[in-house]
Amino acid sequence: MIKAVRGTRDLLPPDTDLWDRVETSAREVFARYNYHEIRTPIFEDTQLFSRSVGEDTDIVSKEMFTWEDKARAQSEKAQSLTLRPENTAGVVRAYIEHRLGDTGTLHKLYYIGPQFRRERPQKGRYRQFYQIGAEIIGPPSAASESPVRDAEVLEMLATLLDEVGLRDWKLQLNSVGCAADRARYNQALREALQPVVHRMDPDCQRRAETNPLRVLDCKVPEDQPIIEKLPKISEYLDEPCRLHFAQVRAMLDEVGVPYSINERMVRGLDYYTRTTFEFTHGGLGAQSAVLGGGRYDGLSESLEGPKAPGIGFAIGEDRLVLALQSQGAQPEKQLQAFVAPLGAGMNRPALKLARELRRSRVTADLGDENFRLKKSFELAEKAGARFIVIVGENEVASGQFAVKNLASGEQVQVARRELAEYLRK
Ligand code: HAM
Repeated sequence: MIKAVRGTRDLLPPDTDLWDRVETSAREVFARYNYHEIRTPIFEDTQLFSRSVGEDTDIVSKEMFTWEDKARAQSEKAQSLTLRPENTAGVVRAYIEHRLGDTGTLHKLYYIGPQFRRERPQKGRYRQFYQIGAEIIGPPSAASESPVRDAEVLEMLATLLDEVGLRDWKLQLNSVGCAADRARYNQALREALQPVVHRMDPDCQRRAETNPLRVLDCKVPEDQPIIEKLPKISEYLDEPCRLHFAQVRAMLDEVGVPYSINERMVRGLDYYTRTTFEFTHGGLGAQSAVLGGGRYDGLSESLEGPKAPGIGFAIGEDRLVLALQSQGAQPEKQLQAFVAPLGAGMNRPALKLARELRRSRVTADLGDENFRLKKSFELAEKAGARFIVIVGENEVASGQFAVKNLASGEQVQVARRELAEYLRK
């Protein structure tokens, strides 16, 4: 038997009803904040990711699905392609390629779709997973660097999570400074680590070598006392960055979005500058980040584009759904009516009635004239319908239909032209 590949999974009803609801809420919220959808390809030139996410990151160094695409003609070169591990790089590539900066305005773009990382699968961690993300990007003249952008993104996320019904989320905030701050901080970390690094776990030692910032993310308990004593990023921010971060925080305080500062929060992507954040949820276990994001003021230029500061985030949709399920969320889609043809020749009038109901915005399912009444009732109940509508010869002739409420057992006669309204209420 052929099965789904390790780290991938099928999403089936009724779970997909919850996925649907999450996506519908997200689209509604994005529309209210004037975001528009962007769809970029699922695979891109490998270099796009190595140059944006960063060579030294786990994502690029060991988690990408990459292949050599054979040259089809002699004039063509073989090209290294990669399934997208995230979507920010693709959005910024599209921004540059289509010269979106020429409009001089901010671009507020959202996306919903699959991403691919070859991680060790576990609860909340898959090799094909789904992100709901958004980016605000534009030239500096459109105030793309303003701290109000950061605060607005975070406030929107709080609204979105509240509206999908997630309770008890936590926002963790940090500022990783500009590129120069990061370089000074990395140097300070290297110096502080040098006398103690030999005492650390081998994996943390490797991080100290390749990317000292990632030492802050080491989870080995014995190494925590060392990590606690390392210098703090906040001490290395220059004045503009410090002020920018203070303004973001003041605006969050103003609108009443709660947060905590986590100076040890290290995002696994190299393009970030200044504000970075994660929203976590207790119902997720080890993979507690429901979403992550931050500012990337230099990303466009590092991909040979114009100066185009931006900020964005991606929600892990798999994790958001898991978190909702952990607090008992049920998909609330309900079938309003089950139309049950009763007796030979009744499929035709029943289909016609079902059509009328559906065109009047009633959700309806249809049985078959070969089913006995008992079986129709069983099917209606299995389908979770609220009402069953019987379509027999007498009903069709009189225009009065027997409608039974499956929960209460109450049965009434309803005239054809009042039926849709009766079933909807
Ligand atoms: P990220 O933190 O790598 O950021 O991923 C965002 C979210 O995607 C995570 O918080 C998590 O919920 C989910 N996620 C990541 N990997 C997996 C996985 N293997 N299985 C299930 N869920 C996963 C980014 O991707 C950035 N592009 C976000 C961003 C947008 N920053 C600025 N703009």
